Amino acid sequence: MPHHNDHMSNTGFRLMAVAFRIAELLNGRRVDRRVQTFGIEPGMTVVDYACGPGRYAVRYAKLVGSAGKVYAVDIHPLAVKAVEKEIARRGLANITPVLADGYNSTLPDHTADLVTAIDVFFAIKDPLAFLGELKRITKPDGTLVIDPGHEPMAETKQKIASSGLWEIVEEAGDHLKCRPL
Ligand SMILES: C[S@@+](CC[C@H](N)C(=O)[O-])C[C@H]1O[C@@H](n2cnc3c(N)ncnc32)[C@H](O)[C@@H]1O
Repeated sequence: MPHHNDHMSNTGFRLMAVAFRIAELLNGRRVDRRVQTFGIEPGMTVVDYACGPGRYAVRYAKLVGSAGKVYAVDIHPLAVKAVEKEIARRGLANITPVLADGYNSTLPDHTADLVTAIDVFFAIKDPLAFLGELKRITKPDGTLVIDPGHEPMAETKQKIASSGLWEIVEEAGDHLKCRPL
């Protein structure tokens, strides 16, 4: 049986963080551009689900501004540490890192105007539990942005459709926008 909080090794996480740092230097503007298409506005509450080292969360923090709030959720303790570092380094007051417990983010019901799950769905063993938790923390009129990462989009769409939890309302090249059903 895998452990309930099954996550990658610390070395794996650190290597990923280095790779993301290099990608940021080479092509950070690509991430800037995609974040612009997510519909983030000042004052929103946004959850960066499976935030990793937090390259999306720090951008969301700027866009929601001081009246908004960002929760950076991950299952890996090193992600929480990395986000804490970014908060201190950039002086960001509106991000809270959160350590998830399995498929439980620990956030209250209907917290978020927008939840994003970027580059993680391919690694999720129980898509129904994952999509259920995303729905639980999203406001009834909120939005989910999902970028499956290393999984064909058709497979992701099929999993979302068969969950019965989300309706796909828009398909951009690399992500889907969904509304809770
Ligand atoms: C490839 S990284 C992507 C990080 C970030 N979204 C980005 O694109 O920069 C995947 C992340 O998902 C996290 N993760 C995997 N399963 C998770 C789960 N069930 N709940 C929360 N985070 C999870 C991993 O710990 C890792 O930090």
